[in-house]
Amino acid sequence: MSRRMSQSASFPDDFLFGAATSAYQIEGAARDDGRGESIWDRFCDTPGRVLDGSSGAEACDHYRRWPDDITLMRGLGIQAYRFSVAWPRVVPSGRGVVNARGLDFYDRLVDGLLATRIQPFVTLYHWDLPQALQDRGGWAARETSEAFVEYADHVSRRLGDRVRDWITHNEPWCISILSHALGVHAPGIKDLRTALAVAHHVLLSHGLAVPVIRANVPQARVGITLNFEVNLPASPSAADHDAARHGDGAFNRWFLDPVFGRRYPADIVADYESGGRLPGSALEAVRPDDYAIMSVPTDFLGVNYYTRQIVRSQAVRESDNLPVTLVRSPEAERTTMGWDVYPQGLYDLLCRLHFEYGPSAMYVTENGSAFVDVPDRHGRVEDAPRLAYLRDHLAAARRAIDAGVPLKGYFGWSLLDNFEWERGYTQRFGLVRVDYATQARTPKASAEYYARVIRERRVLDA
Ligand code: FCB
Repeated sequence: MSRRMSQSASFPDDFLFGAATSAYQIEGAARDDGRGESIWDRFCDTPGRVLDGSSGAEACDHYRRWPDDITLMRGLGIQAYRFSVAWPRVVPSGRGVVNARGLDFYDRLVDGLLATRIQPFVTLYHWDLPQALQDRGGWAARETSEAFVEYADHVSRRLGDRVRDWITHNEPWCISILSHALGVHAPGIKDLRTALAVAHHVLLSHGLAVPVIRANVPQARVGITLNFEVNLPASPSAADHDAARHGDGAFNRWFLDPVFGRRYPADIVADYESGGRLPGSALEAVRPDDYAIMSVPTDFLGVNYYTRQIVRSQAVRESDNLPVTLVRSPEAERTTMGWDVYPQGLYDLLCRLHFEYGPSAMYVTENGSAFVDVPDRHGRVEDAPRLAYLRDHLAAARRAIDAGVPLKGYFGWSLLDNFEWERGYTQRFGLVRVDYATQARTPKASAEYYARVIRERRVLDA
């Protein structure tokens, strides 16, 4: 089938068009109704951690404005909404006493969504660990996996009569490597050994939580969301191919393989353990029974995709322990995050996941772009680059379905402009503009385009 024809073909009837957000990035109300402190509150309070010195303390004030945000989604025809639950709202000290008012908030949100016929997809962990647990070792401590299962039990008991779709974790690579080896995200630790223990306990907690969620939720559909980068060698040289292998292995396979029953990839274990990079074993935190737990069958794989990496071999950098360097392609279009725009990567990735790992279903749980938005005096933004990004990635997703990939939905990142972690409010990913001074929401041209795509159920030229 030609590219043109497949672009205009309809998406399957059961394909869901959604939008995604996460708690810390939009809710605000960081001290309201008994919410406990999270590692992100602490991180933002530490000078020098967040580019513009900001925090999620107010963010989009979604905690109060959620009814308006549901109305906004209804206006766009959004069929499914992926949001995360803030663990410190539900269990402020991480373990023990449950905060009823925290659960009540998500209860109201779910009812509001269902009343509008928007299907909720709940992510249990999108990075806001209760600080009290961090004080006891955080994800580097095995105990945190048990704490997560208790928390997952509380939330799924409360919402499980209405929420069918559950995601245990968002992006274990970010939770582990980005936050504990590169030190870019909370809690800002730079130690590969700690990061690998974190990765393991996160994946373990996923495996432990899945049966608990299933027990609480009739007809549950449970998955995990991983983030992926397509790694391309910078040249035909064997060394650069090897760097791409390592990049792919450390970023993608380290998380995919254990979830799909393959254990941690032996080549990356060897990379980590060679050259004295890591004192001791890369698998220090692993106990023999863990592999069976981590590879519990799931109902879908959540796929977050934003960009590619072009990688070149180099000596190991002290800072991050990664024996690769990233190359900037002079021709590539880039977003304000500095990320290459590469829609073909989404097609290649979905096909690879399907043919190499065979998940029974997949959702694109995040995909989107940050650009400089120039609002007119009504706050409207003609965001042609974001619209083109959305169109071309939707087209790639549509072609993957033609290739046989069981892709069941797409969630644009993000519904709203929001707090972009260590970049603060400097990056705008929203389909809808947020004026942070007034909290006014204005759909951008890309949102209006998305609304038309959803109505017609096919990729439109513009
Ligand atoms: C992903 C995160 C999400 C958002 C986007 C831009 O890694 O899951 O919260 O920050 O990147």
